[in-house]
Amino acid sequence: MVDDHTSDVVIEPLTVEQIASFHAALDAVARERQFLTFLEAPPLEPTIQFISSSLAKGNPHFAARTGNRVVGWCDILRQERESHAHRGWLAIGIVREFRGKGLGRRLIAAVLEQAWKRDFTRVELNVHADNDRAVALYEKVGFVHEGRIRNAFRADGIYRDALSMAIVRE
Ligand SMILES: CC(C)(COP(=O)(O)OP(=O)(O)OC[C@H]1O[C@@H](n2cnc3c(N)ncnc32)[C@H](O)[C@@H]1OP(=O)(O)O)[C@@H](O)C(=O)NCCC(=O)NCCS
Repeated sequence: MVDDHTSDVVIEPLTVEQIASFHAALDAVARERQFLTFLEAPPLEPTIQFISSSLAKGNPHFAARTGNRVVGWCDILRQERESHAHRGWLAIGIVREFRGKGLGRRLIAAVLEQAWKRDFTRVELNVHADNDRAVALYEKVGFVHEGRIRNAFRADGIYRDALSMAIVRE
């Protein structure tokens, strides 16, 4: 029997103290080798530095947490150049056993709400064309299709196309 612990899961801003647990979740999803551009997480120390710096810059980072464990994340990284600083890149992931229970919807809603407050006017992402659940989620929260990147990803001899999607707010 599989326990459904989703009612215990809280969606909250990621803290520096949670980065190691976030890193474990990122690594687990990356190692599935089909959803993320990472095939494993980068090493822990550079990840702590990178995410701490991103938090300090005010980028939106949210975690889905149960107890002390981060089981999902969603973040938006602002582009650096002044002429692109209205644009942010969205990433999201949930460890396998917590998927399909509405956490993705809750995470993305929280991160977008913060993005609009922080003056992003364009949020964009790439998603593998065969990732039906992710594409459905993005469409439901208002992302629009902008194009297709053919053979964007290759792992284990399998190529995947990626779809470019974005939300623009004037
Ligand atoms: C993609 C992901 C973040 C979605 O989060 P989730 O918690 O599993 O999804 P949710 O339960 O919030 O469901 C999202 C919506 O998609 C719908 N959906 C679920 N499975 C679906 C499928 N196979 N096809 C179409 N729609 C689907 C749901 O009905 C839901 O809509 P609703 O809110 O109107 O009911 C999550 O599955 C995940 O982390 N997957 C692996 C990593 C990944 O793909 N990351 C994104 C890379 S771009």
